[in-house]
Amino acid sequence: MERLIMVTHNKGKFKEASKIAGEFGIELEMPSGGEGKFEIQADTLLEVSAYSARYAFDKLKRPLIVDDSGLFIEALKGFPGVYSAYVLPTLGNDGILRLMDGIQNREAYFECCVSYCDSSEIKSFSERIDGKILNMKKGQDGFGFDPIFSAEGFNVTSMAEMALDQKNAISHRGKAFRSFFRWYSEKNRT
Ligand code: IMP
Repeated sequence: MERLIMVTHNKGKFKEASKIAGEFGIELEMPSGGEGKFEIQADTLLEVSAYSARYAFDKLKRPLIVDDSGLFIEALKGFPGVYSAYVLPTLGNDGILRLMDGIQNREAYFECCVSYCDSSEIKSFSERIDGKILNMKKGQDGFGFDPIFSAEGFNVTSMAEMALDQKNAISHRGKAFRSFFRWYSEKNRT
């Protein structure tokens, strides 16, 4: 099976992405030196993931991918968005629910940007999933903000109440990684 490096320490992301990679006959591996993603602060996930991919490639000198994702809440003007990685361990899901207390507009979306880097190019793939912030945490599966997010059409079912394949079928990550792997498979055929 062909192998490709995914630079991450996030086991949830790695598990979801690995399952999709398998659909394309590709096995993902984490860097053997245990390197994690180097994150800059920027205005968009695309800037963060593309920079991280370039940075990691300069160190590892092997083709690789990086996933930068975030939760964007409309009533909070897109917060936590690009700050999601800092907000989860600080405010956490309980803190987000407190910020949303009494707010009627629960619209939100997850976005995932996958960036690929090799010696000749950097290419990024962004996708999103719309949904809403629930009133309470629900479910044990998934990771991160999944317990407080319900995807459009799933009523009050949180993404943490979905099996991995079910989440992958509709999620920001599922869509972004499938776009990437379609492009990557084509690139390797030519
Ligand atoms: P980053 O992409 O590593 O910057 O992660 C941003 C934050 O969003 C982390 O705290 C992740 O746990 C969280 N996150 C990323 N993807 C998802 C997801 O699919 N579901 C729930 N939380 C996520």
